[in-house]
Amino acid sequence: MQVDRPKWLTSSAATMLLLLASVSAVPAKAGAPAPSAAAGAAQASQGADPWWKHALVYEIYPRSFQDSNGDGIGDLNGITQRLPYIKALGIDAVWLSPMFPSPQVDFGYDISDYEAVDPKYGTMADFDRMLAEAKKQNVRILLDFVVNHTSDKHKWFIESASSRNNPKRNWYIWRDPKGYTADGKPIPPNNWLSAFGHSAWQWDPKTKQFYYHRFYIQQPDLNWRNPAVEKAMFDVVRFWLDKGVAGFRLDAVPTLFENPNLPDAKEEPGTNAYGDRNQSEAEYDDLPEVHDTMRRLRAVVNKYPGDRVLIGETYLENPADLNRWYGGAKHDELQLPMDMQVGFQKKLDASGLRKHITEAETQIDGNQPLFVFDNHDNKRSWDRYGDGVHDAQIARVIATVLLTSRATALMYYGEELGMVTSTPQRIEDVQDPIGRTGWPREKGRDGERTPMQWTPGPQAGFSTDPHTWLPVASDYKTVNVQTESGERASLLNWHKQLIGMRRNDPALHSGSMTMLDTSNPSVLSYVRKGPSGHSIMVAVNCTATPQNVSLTSAWGTHVKTLLTDAPALGGQTKLDGIALPPYASWVASVE
Ligand code: NOJ
Repeated sequence: MQVDRPKWLTSSAATMLLLLASVSAVPAKAGAPAPSAAAGAAQASQGADPWWKHALVYEIYPRSFQDSNGDGIGDLNGITQRLPYIKALGIDAVWLSPMFPSPQVDFGYDISDYEAVDPKYGTMADFDRMLAEAKKQNVRILLDFVVNHTSDKHKWFIESASSRNNPKRNWYIWRDPKGYTADGKPIPPNNWLSAFGHSAWQWDPKTKQFYYHRFYIQQPDLNWRNPAVEKAMFDVVRFWLDKGVAGFRLDAVPTLFENPNLPDAKEEPGTNAYGDRNQSEAEYDDLPEVHDTMRRLRAVVNKYPGDRVLIGETYLENPADLNRWYGGAKHDELQLPMDMQVGFQKKLDASGLRKHITEAETQIDGNQPLFVFDNHDNKRSWDRYGDGVHDAQIARVIATVLLTSRATALMYYGEELGMVTSTPQRIEDVQDPIGRTGWPREKGRDGERTPMQWTPGPQAGFSTDPHTWLPVASDYKTVNVQTESGERASLLNWHKQLIGMRRNDPALHSGSMTMLDTSNPSVLSYVRKGPSGHSIMVAVNCTATPQNVSLTSAWGTHVKTLLTDAPALGGQTKLDGIALPPYASWVASVE
């Protein structure tokens, strides 16, 4: 079923059977210990490059990662406890979804204090301990900076709403009604919609004005045209950078500014999941002013040592728009706005992947791409790309593309295990408010936020409380860290092997990337060439039918398979006649 999600959420058609198919053999010595991706000489920061250029970033949704105090909700001490796992997986930096005080209407994306920790997740001392422990393990911590809006319980908004003359009135976007209906109801200033359904304007009977909220009513938009807002928010940035965080992921940043003339949005055919008439988002999104703000923010971050980084939640439709977020050839805005084109296609498609990866290689002024296939707002890639038959192989294709491309890579907790989307079956079980207002077309985002699966034991080792905030997915007895660690051919070990190669092989770590066999509609293949001439070849079959490819390389005539889930390719030595079974992945060094 096609779901009308806001632009920053992708639609997905796939409903799937959740069977972690038994995987084909990975060439390895029998009885060899499970690989550790973190082992090896090369580190993510190598040579003169900033660390983030070769990094693997891992998104943790704190509510769902590890509960340390038995209340059914994950917390910071739980994350600290799991740092050895994160380290062994080969993660360079963790992006923590918001853990600041919040009424939790949008599970932390409605912040009521930017400079504290929500008691549900722990204390500032817990945060400091987590940061210090992570530092010892050479794992950086990135925070989620919710820039577009605060909670309506933030003291800034409470003051702003208290009267029209309050000094903070202009910190948010307040407007008079357009008029009143015959029966005295105020009419919103224009027809703009909230991304979460219905009017983006909320009436305040006390001060008789509307305020603007791009997201939930409880998430009033900040007025970034007011320099006092920018100053206060940049102070927040300094507060956390002073503590030692490595940077931020900027939430919903393209919606920071709106057209101040408030023109009505152009209506489009059809309705969204909430029953509103569809409309163009051009007036809400990506206004030019935002780039001046980004340049000033970058200047703040640049004052700190250690290559602090700005990552952007940037759902953009073409490379030219994405490039603006880097500052183009000036490289003076975000270092890593997310490329959502590669990882959020409608289906697995070699031509589409080739096109978007090539655009990222050639059309962003030499900036560093950041690829991502999974996050807390979209059905998991397992379900979006899976066909119900080859899901485990398809997950390997995704991991292979993500981890052998030249891009900085972003993973979401549980992606390495093949965690699936467990969408609630009944509206009364839904936690995410959009899942209730949009039911049944939009069932919300609970499905991709279920607890991390650590063990085959109670609550998958996530919590001692049987009433976890979201139910543990039903496949946890087989899909979990403990079980998969012991299975040589598990998806977890596939990831570890790729991550280890990416860290330690100079061609994969920092080599150039050249597409091969560029008109092949079924198989994506490319070569990574390292500084000393050594090169690595990658081919993935993006179809359910066997494919035979012959590749050519200027750098060698023979190959040696390093990793594949197609047993027959284990002994492949020639560049021609490479027989890829359905959805097979193959990584080889060119000799
Ligand atoms: C994007 C976040 O990823 C999403 O979870 C949140 O609901 C919206 N921004 C609003 O903050």
